[in-house]
Amino acid sequence: MEDQAEKLREIMKRKKDGVNANPVSARLSSAAKTPSKSSDKARIITVTSGKGGVGKTNLSVNMALAFARLGKKVVVMDADLGLANVNVMLNMIPKYNLYHVIKKQKTIREILVETEYGISIVAGASGFSQIANMGEEDRKDFIAELDTLSNADIIIIDTSAGVSSNVLDFIAAADDAVIITTPEPTAITDAYGIIKIIATEYDSLNMGLKLVVNRAKGAAQAKGVADRMINIAGQFLNLKVDYLGFIYDDPAVQQAVFTQKPFMVVAPKCQASNCVQHIVDRMNRNKPEETTGFSAMLKRLFGQSQDRERQ
Ligand SMILES: Nc1ncnc2c1ncn2[C@@H]1O[C@H](COP(=O)(O)OP(=O)(O)OP(=O)(O)O)[C@@H](O)[C@H]1O
Ligand SMILES: [Mg+2]
Repeated sequence: MEDQAEKLREIMKRKKDGVNANPVSARLSSAAKTPSKSSDKARIITVTSGKGGVGKTNLSVNMALAFARLGKKVVVMDADLGLANVNVMLNMIPKYNLYHVIKKQKTIREILVETEYGISIVAGASGFSQIANMGEEDRKDFIAELDTLSNADIIIIDTSAGVSSNVLDFIAAADDAVIITTPEPTAITDAYGIIKIIATEYDSLNMGLKLVVNRAKGAAQAKGVADRMINIAGQFLNLKVDYLGFIYDDPAVQQAVFTQKPFMVVAPKCQASNCVQHIVDRMNRNKPEETTGFSAMLKRLFGQSQDRERQ
């Protein structure tokens, strides 16, 4: 957690010094002005936070389940570098991850793991951090390989702890970026920190940020936290943040984590499950008009440098 704050400060400092902490961001923001979206593509949802341990993986996995119950084909992607959160929460140990796809040792189908809950998972591991270092041809092959995931309706990316440029690019290129915080002052400060970085790094976002307050005592407390953050983001960053909902602080969550099963499965009627259901119902009602699709998103992120140079 501490090194995360450190990274935040470093990115902000480099920004202030005029060093582009994120070379992809310039490309991304111009790409965002001319989005090449198609409505039959997967909806990409990133789940992120400033502070670690505030509930990203629980929200990602349980949100995926709620979407699956609405008949959606859902893939959860663990974009974490090594901690393999999603796998642990579902008691699964995938042998392979995106790194093996990048190295052309496996296809995406071979690394996709079906779970007993009607959702599939992909372990990102160190794969994502490798993409930026790939040669043009390899990158094209990799993106084409990821096209296999395009038949999913929803891809939820658990960005896990860390605010590397890589993660920030994912957030900015997604259809929905969910920021999660708890009512704790440290979590709120760090959530605001990440919102601030997104606002300063990406001048033309083509999606809204959505806030979830986790571990709240109730609706009033959560709304208070959300209102404060939304007002500050609007006032100081000129950034629109929508309040997506809250999740109760609920002992059923921890119990479910211990059994390595999603709380939506072991305690479908608990307060936390009800809250996630509300959040997903709301997201399902407010679909983006057009969705990106995973390979289109990666092309926007990594694949357009040459085209752009030629223009
Ligand atoms: N709504 C909740 N009620 C009670 N406890 C919760 C709730 N949400 C999360 N927790 C507790 O917080 C722990 C961390 O949650 P989770 O692993 O989802 O966070 P994370 O943000 O993914 O963490 P990391 O940054 O390490 O990836 C859980 O194991 C659980 O004990
Ligand atoms: Mg996690």
